[in-house]
Amino acid sequence: MIELAVFGAGRMGQIHARNAALHPGLNLKFIADPIDSPARDALLAMTGATLATPEEIFADPAIAGVVVASSTDSHAELIRAAAEAGKAVFADKPISLDFAAVLEVAAAVEAAGVPSMLGFQRRYDAPFRALKQRIDSGASGRLETVLMQSRDPSPPPASYARSSGGFFRDSAIHDMDMARYLLEEPVARVWATGSCLVSEELGAIGDIDTGMIALTTVSGRIATLMNSRRGPMGYDQRLEAFCAAEVLSVGNQRLSPLAISAPDGETLQPPMNYFPARFAQAYADEMDAFARLIAEGTPPLATMADGLEAQRLVEAAIRSLETGLPVDFAPDWRP
Ligand SMILES: NC(=O)c1ccc[n+]([C@@H]2O[C@H](COP(=O)([O-])OP(=O)(O)OC[C@H]3O[C@@H](n4cnc5c(N)ncnc54)[C@H](O)[C@@H]3O)[C@@H](O)[C@H]2O)c1
Repeated sequence: MIELAVFGAGRMGQIHARNAALHPGLNLKFIADPIDSPARDALLAMTGATLATPEEIFADPAIAGVVVASSTDSHAELIRAAAEAGKAVFADKPISLDFAAVLEVAAAVEAAGVPSMLGFQRRYDAPFRALKQRIDSGASGRLETVLMQSRDPSPPPASYARSSGGFFRDSAIHDMDMARYLLEEPVARVWATGSCLVSEELGAIGDIDTGMIALTTVSGRIATLMNSRRGPMGYDQRLEAFCAAEVLSVGNQRLSPLAISAPDGETLQPPMNYFPARFAQAYADEMDAFARLIAEGTPPLATMADGLEAQRLVEAAIRSLETGLPVDFAPDWRP
């Protein structure tokens, strides 16, 4: 049995800890979270894990891997410490809000040679995976443009947004990763625009809640990322891959697939309301990938290097947002 520890008992920590506890090949030994809360107690009771400090976790030779699902500002230190302690590490995005720290942490993980993966769960999601496999099969012809619409049901509280690094670092990073994953080609230009149309509270802390990013690859293919903190119909996660021979799309997954047709029209169920429901299976599949990475060395679908590259694109989008100008995105571009 592979022994694990999870850092963080918040929204993502609860998802990952439950998935680890339910996985037949994993034993969730420890949970670490410095904040005493009913949610933390409930998670410890539900998973049977013991509360521990980082020092206890990193010093325990039985711990083979750690899941870093704590607040973003703790990721870099925990990932580095895990690598130095020789533990496999599965970190949620982003690696850090500070790009210099992202580079350092990615290098430290590589130097330590520990197995590692990053939490870009859309790569594990069945509909997105099927779309990727169709493109890879060649049946669709050349992928020419990608259009993504990613909209949260409602804005987060300013307390979360303040430490999230802003809308692009917190949210658009998933879309950046998906664009890279599908296009599989270096990006040559990044252009972004954004506004605050939804939440005065977010505007007051200098964040945006509505954004558009255009990526152009070296051969001229284009990805357009539309993001909003508003979702009048719920959590909106759609993607269209426009190829030479076919148009592929991932639509919203509905609360129920039931469509009701009646004399006055047709009713569809609204989309699943947010990421814990929409990506529930993808998160479970990520945990299974972590187990297989540790047990068999099976490469994960998203690596620390993918986290670094998605974040480099995000930093370029932020530069474009700030200057109003497109960014020429050379392979050595740094914020
Ligand atoms: N992949 C995804 O779909 C997805 C979705 C949401 C959030 N996230 C990421 O997951 C991370 C956590 O987000 P969340 O929404 O769960 O936040 P949250 O605020 O709900 O929970 C964070 C938890 O981490 C704890 N914490 C803080 N410092 C810690 C430390 N040093 N050690 C252990 N625990 C610590 C806090 O006490 C809190 O309980 C963020 O980095 C966020 O970007 C990823």
